[in-house]
Amino acid sequence: MTAISGKLAFVTGGASGVGLGQAKALLRRGARVVIADIMQDRLDAVCAEFEAAGTPVVAVRLDLTDLDAYRGVVDAVEAEYGPIQLLFNTAGVSQFGPLQAATMDDWRWQIDVNLYGTIHALQVFLPRMLERGDDNHIIVTASMSAFLSLPGCGIYTATKMAQRGLTESLAWDLEGTNIHVSLLCPGAVNTNIHQSLRARPAHLKDTGFYTGTEEDEARLKAVIEHGMEPERLAGYVMEAVEANRFYILPYPEFRAPLEDLQAEVMGALARPEDDPEYEMRISKGVPGGSDKQ
Ligand SMILES: NC(=O)c1ccc[n+]([C@@H]2O[C@H](COP(=O)([O-])OP(=O)(O)OC[C@H]3O[C@@H](n4cnc5c(N)ncnc54)[C@H](O)[C@@H]3O)[C@@H](O)[C@H]2O)c1
Repeated sequence: MTAISGKLAFVTGGASGVGLGQAKALLRRGARVVIADIMQDRLDAVCAEFEAAGTPVVAVRLDLTDLDAYRGVVDAVEAEYGPIQLLFNTAGVSQFGPLQAATMDDWRWQIDVNLYGTIHALQVFLPRMLERGDDNHIIVTASMSAFLSLPGCGIYTATKMAQRGLTESLAWDLEGTNIHVSLLCPGAVNTNIHQSLRARPAHLKDTGFYTGTEEDEARLKAVIEHGMEPERLAGYVMEAVEANRFYILPYPEFRAPLEDLQAEVMGALARPEDDPEYEMRISKGVPGGSDKQ
């Protein structure tokens, strides 16, 4: 059981959408909250909202693709407010299109934010959390794209599958330590992710996909506007954190596609009777078995 009340939480992407919902849910449960985001105008707006509601938060501008900046921000926050024990690695961006149209800037931007942003978080937080030895929890927001691929979503899917792989590995590596880990994989959430391109840096602007016109944003918004509201999603996350559950998968509409995928993979996977060398490998302890699944 990870207690939320009284802890200091750091929420990346906290000025919008999923992260903002998490910040609100954390405040309701008595946590102190730091929101970190690259968009200063959003930080200012939500800060004023929290202030007016009588639940102030600490807001910091952070480009999480910059490891030194990330470390500097966390050092400064901890020096002033004390240890961060809850890390919500939530910020992320998306831009879609067929892989044959992708430029290297398209690849770099999504990998920088979604994957390196997560890697940087681990580099910054793991040593200090382990050294302090107190009760910590890291929550990585990936996506159902961490399990399922769709046409036109290749770059995003590559980053989300990588986030799942590294977060599952992290849970193995941190077993028995003072850090718990959870992986949130949402389906559609009604957020501002249709405006992702507004946070794309100028030095990575060469794109083979769409450019973020009003029409682009409207088309993308239509895909998520009937998705789950971020605060409702955050309720599931808080319950999972309190119960120390690893997978947070609150979208029943993905049961059927995941069952189909599992059936297809199991159908393709060789059976022991198909392989004359199987018994030998098992007797020699060749990797393959796992008691986790
Ligand atoms: N909205 C959905 O349907 C959906 C579905 C599945 C997963 N997700 C995931 O949820 C997470 C949050 O997305 P959202 O839907 O709330 O989008 P959002 O755009 O509303 O919020 C994301 C925030 O991240 C910030 N950000 C972008 N680049 C950054 C950077 N370099 N450094 C710091 N902050 C940066 C943005 O400014 C924005 O405020 C992402 O990881 C996304 O992949 C969203």
